[in-house]
Amino acid sequence: MAVPAESGGKSRVILAPSILSADMARLGEQVREVEEAGAERLHLDMMDGHFVPNLTFGPLLAGALRPVTRLPLVAHLMVEEPERLLPALAEVGVSGVIVHVEASVHLHRIVAQVHDMGMRAGVALNPATPLAALDEILPELDEVLVMSVNPGFGGQRFIPSSLDKIARLRQMLQRRGLDGVALAVDGGLDEQTIPPVLRAGADLLVIGWAIFGAADGPAVALRRLRRVAEEAR
Ligand code: DX5
Ligand code: ZN
Repeated sequence: MAVPAESGGKSRVILAPSILSADMARLGEQVREVEEAGAERLHLDMMDGHFVPNLTFGPLLAGALRPVTRLPLVAHLMVEEPERLLPALAEVGVSGVIVHVEASVHLHRIVAQVHDMGMRAGVALNPATPLAALDEILPELDEVLVMSVNPGFGGQRFIPSSLDKIARLRQMLQRRGLDGVALAVDGGLDEQTIPPVLRAGADLLVIGWAIFGAADGPAVALRRLRRVAEEAR
C-alpha cells in the first residue's frame, strides 16, 4: 500500500479508486487512466454472495491486473472465511488485504497470516459495528476501513452518522499513539461528502461511482476529486 507522501506538513490524501463501478469490458484501459491521473492504489471489492448479497471477482482478476499497472492492489474481502483466499491473493501479488471484523472469527490469527505472507493488513467495520470491536486488534493493524454504506454495491448514498464514527476513530488512534494506522473510508464518497469526511479525520478515500461513473471519465473525475480533497484539508 502507498505510504503517504509529505506535502506542506500534511500528508497527501490517498485516493483508492474502486473498480466495482468500472467498465469491466475495458478494465485494463480504465485502470491505466486512473493510474496516470495520480491514484495511489487500486481497491478490489471481492464479494462472495454470502457475506454480502452480491458476487464479484476474486484473486484471478487481481492476477490479471498485476501486469497492467504498477499501483498497489488492495483486496477488500466481503466474504465469509476470508482466510481461505489469503494464499491465492499473496501468490498473485496483492499488496494489502482488508477483512471484515464481522466475517472473521479468528481475527487476530488472520491479521498475523496476512503479515506473514508479506501483505499489509486492514480491518473493515460495517456501519452498525461499533468501534469497540477494534479495541484489542488496533495495534496490529496497518489500516482501518470505516464503511460509510452497507457493503455490497457501488453508487449508494453516504450514511451521515459515519462522520461521527470517523471522528471518534481518529481520536482513538491519537489517544493510543497509533497515528501510523491509516483511517480509510469507503462508500458514497463524492464532491459533497469528501470534505466533511476529511475534516473528521480520514486520510484514505475509496471512491467508486464518483470516478468510474463520471460523465467526463475517470481521469478527469479523479483529478477533480483530488482538488476537492486538497482544498478541504
Ligand atoms: C461497497 C464497496 C465499495 C464501493 C464504493 O460495498 O466496498 O468499495 O465500490 O463505491 P461507491 O464510491 O460507488 O460508493
Ligand atoms: Zn470496498
